[in-house]
This record gives sequence, C-alpha cells and structure tokens, in this order.
Amino acid sequence: MAEAVISSFDFTAYLANARGRVEAALDASLGPERPNQLREAMRYSLLAGGKRLRPILCLAACELTGEDSEKAMSTAVAIEMIHTMSLIHDDLPAMDNDDLRRGRPTNHMVYGDALAILSGDALLTRAFEMVAIRSPNVPAERLLKVVGELSLVAGAPGLVGGQVEDLECEGKEVDLETLEFIHIHKTGALLKASVVCGALIGGADDQLLKALSTYANGIGLAFQIIDDILDVTASSEVLGKTAGKDLLADKTTYPKLLGLDESRKRAKELIGKSKDILGPWSKKASPLIALADFIISRDR
Ligand code: FPP
Ligand code: MG
Repeated sequence: MAEAVISSFDFTAYLANARGRVEAALDASLGPERPNQLREAMRYSLLAGGKRLRPILCLAACELTGEDSEKAMSTAVAIEMIHTMSLIHDDLPAMDNDDLRRGRPTNHMVYGDALAILSGDALLTRAFEMVAIRSPNVPAERLLKVVGELSLVAGAPGLVGGQVEDLECEGKEVDLETLEFIHIHKTGALLKASVVCGALIGGADDQLLKALSTYANGIGLAFQIIDDILDVTASSEVLGKTAGKDLLADKTTYPKLLGLDESRKRAKELIGKSKDILGPWSKKASPLIALADFIISRDR
C-alpha cells in the first residue's frame, strides 16, 4: 500500500527543496565566531555537504503533524550540528583516526586535534542554543521537550554510550545483541531523535508520536546496517570516507556476523515495517515513506 501512495509523490523534487532550505539555514546558523580559526573549523565541517538526512527527517515529521516545517528548522539545524560534531570527534586519532570525511580531509587533518575537539564542542553547545533561544514562534514547553530529548540522545544514554561500546569492542568477538546496542545508540538514537523532535515541535499527539518512534527505530537500525554493507561494497570515492575501515579496525559489523545477503534482508524487513506503521497517515506520510526507501537504496 505504501508503494501506491508514493507513486504520485515527487521525492527528487522534495529532497532537492528540503536540502536547499537546510543548507541555507545551516549557513545562517553560524555567526562571526571569534577567533577566526574557530569560525573556519566550525564552518568547514558543518557546511561540507552530506545527505542532510537527519534535518530532512525532522522537517518531514513536523510536516506530518500539520504544522509549518519552518518552525522545526532550528531543531533540524541543531541535530545536524550534533551529528557533525560526533563525526569530527569520531575521526580523531584517539578514536577512529580517519583522514577522509565527506570527500575532504577530516577536521583535525586541517585544523589540528585541539581545534577539532573545540570546534566540535562549540557545535554541540550551539545546537542547544539553536533550540532554546533561536526557535521563534514555538511554544516553550515544546522546546523544553526537545532539549530533554537531545540531551539524552547526545550523552551517555545515546551517542556517547554507543561510541564507547564501539571502541571497547574493537578487535573482540562481539555477539549480535552487543552489535545492535552499538548501532542503536551510536547511530539509531540521533536518527530517531530527528523524527521525534520534529514531531514534538509540531505538537504531535501520543498516537502519532508512538507511531513515529516505531518508524524511527526501524529506519535508525536499518541505516547503520546499510552503512556496514557500504563499508564493504562501496569505494572511498563514492562514500567520501575511507571504505573498508571496519575490516581494517577489526570492528564487528552486520556483514561480518550475518553475511551480506542476510544483512540486506534484515535492513529491508526493518524498512518495510517502518513504512507499514505510517499506513494510517496515508498521503501525508509520503515524504517519510520515501525517506525510508532512500535509506535502503542509497549508495553512499
Ligand atoms: C561514526 O560511526 C560515529 C558516530 C555515528 C557517532 C560517534 C559519537 C561520538 C564521537 C560521541 C560524540 C559526542 C557527543 C556529545 C554527541 P562509524 O565510525 O561507524 O562511521 P564512519 O565510517 O562514518 O566513521
Ligand atoms: Mg568512524
């Protein structure tokens, strides 16, 4: 049924429009930070392109509530800031020690470790500023819920916890339950928050919030399964980051535990379930349904 609904929906145009709006808002979110190197390092990573999937999910979830998605733009920007800072820190020598990100040298390769850490810190704190004091026309109680959601997701119960477990598990035998913990926390949590926060800004009722949380759990885990697959099957040129890195760092991945075919099957099942959940919202859910398809069909 979901397939039939999206046939009349022009996803390519939707994506191009949403990306354009997000890029403009990201650009406007950074002011004349002082000193110059800090400003440059923050802009270098935040404006380096990328799929902008998280902010677009946030806008689409807000739209589904019937609210103007522009009201969720500052939250969408905040989420991309948290994502970007997590990648800057993930690439540091003390973590994954990577030199390529979004097709360019990583932040620390250009600005050095200290500025990479500090520009990440500045993006993280700016994210909360975007929600708390740069979100015009959104009721304070909705913003407070978003601040709460983002603080849980960024911290120990979310990205940080997932990243620590990921680093701890390098070179070790890891079972599927632990791998899922890593994926759900390191990656799934922020994707889920993107959807949930967009819905919170729009004032979603409990029924919609529950459905969107379930939808987002599925796409969040599927996203990281596809990431594991692409690490094996795609080139560094296409990915814009070092391919084959998981094998090199001896990380446990879905393909390593289940093989490529079974991993693809799992991701497809998760995406299918996520799409089905949004069935009752019919045409209004077309962007989120198409975004779920995009996650599984992406090549980078
Ligand atoms: C990339 O994973 C890394 C992440 C998805 C998250 C990393 C999280 C942190 C560094 C914690 C950040 C701190 C706060 C406060 C939010 P990957 O290495 O599997 O993917 P890659 O191939 O793109 O590097
Ligand atoms: Mg990494």
